[in-house]
Amino acid sequence: MILVSGATGTIGSEVTRLLSGRAEAVRVMTRNPYTATFPDGIEIVRGDFDESDSLRASAEGVTTVFLLTAPGDWVPRHDKAMLDAAVAAGVTKVVKLSAIGADTTKGSWHLPGEEALQAGGLAWTILRPAGFMSNALGWAQAIRAGQPVANRTGTGAQSPIDPRDVAEVAVKALLSAEHDGRIYTLTGPECLSVPDQVAQLADALGHAVETIDIDIEEARHQMLDAGIHPSVVAVAVAGQEYVRAGHAAVLTGDAERVLNRPPRTFRDWAHDHFAAFRS
Ligand SMILES: NC(=O)c1ccc[n+]([C@@H]2O[C@H](COP(=O)([O-])OP(=O)(O)OC[C@H]3O[C@@H](n4cnc5c(N)ncnc54)[C@H](OP(=O)(O)O)[C@@H]3O)[C@@H](O)[C@H]2O)c1
Repeated sequence: MILVSGATGTIGSEVTRLLSGRAEAVRVMTRNPYTATFPDGIEIVRGDFDESDSLRASAEGVTTVFLLTAPGDWVPRHDKAMLDAAVAAGVTKVVKLSAIGADTTKGSWHLPGEEALQAGGLAWTILRPAGFMSNALGWAQAIRAGQPVANRTGTGAQSPIDPRDVAEVAVKALLSAEHDGRIYTLTGPECLSVPDQVAQLADALGHAVETIDIDIEEARHQMLDAGIHPSVVAVAVAGQEYVRAGHAAVLTGDAERVLNRPPRTFRDWAHDHFAAFRS
């Protein structure tokens, strides 16, 4: 039995889709089991990282856990709660979704969970993806309205990865011991700045899309004004400064080695999702 946490989100829903129809039993965890929809044949359980009883029940009879905790300064606490429940239930392996730079970013939300997992006596795989290509969906509203895309990272490039590739790597790690004890830093195939990504989206859409530069302080105020939790804003701003300074222009071959094919390009992603940007 594989337990997928974060199963209604970007990565977890794709992990669930890829696991469905396979021989392995799959249980998905959500706080809202009556409103979430999943493929047929999947067991659904109500679980909340803030309610340890629900985690114990979710992990009962499970051998392998896909651990995905939602962004916020609660990540270390949520990781620990799920790991404690997993150990208590006799789970033998955990695949944790972390983030690129977890080991080098000061105050990383994911490092405590990574360390607890590595010290916990279970088999483990840690996935540290770069920024998801799907973050570009955050530009859809502006593009649909014919407005410029806010660029908070200047000419700084990142190596965005397609969430479908992250999920595919996660499924390989969940299903095979070959990836036990490995930390994979998952990047896409090329380094792209926001203007580079927007230019590729514009090609897919067949019309020009402008960008507008937003400096760090303005970005901070916009996020706080939008009601985003200050801890999330602090991490987002630190990340934007990091990218702007060029430190995120990192490529690894980990995704290609695990997938046995090159990771999808942003051009592929834009082609598959351009409808979301059409007015
Ligand atoms: N976005 C990026 O560029 C990027 C890059 C690298 C790493 N990451 C990492 O990826 C993770 C986010 O993945 P994602 O984008 O796939 O997530 P997402 O789409 O934001 O979905 C979040 C999931 O977490 C679940 N969740 C939230 N609070 C919960 C709670 N208290 N108890 C149980 N479940 C809870 C939600 O389930 P319900 O609402 O159904 O309960 C939902 O399925 C984060 O750890 C982030 O650091 C993101």
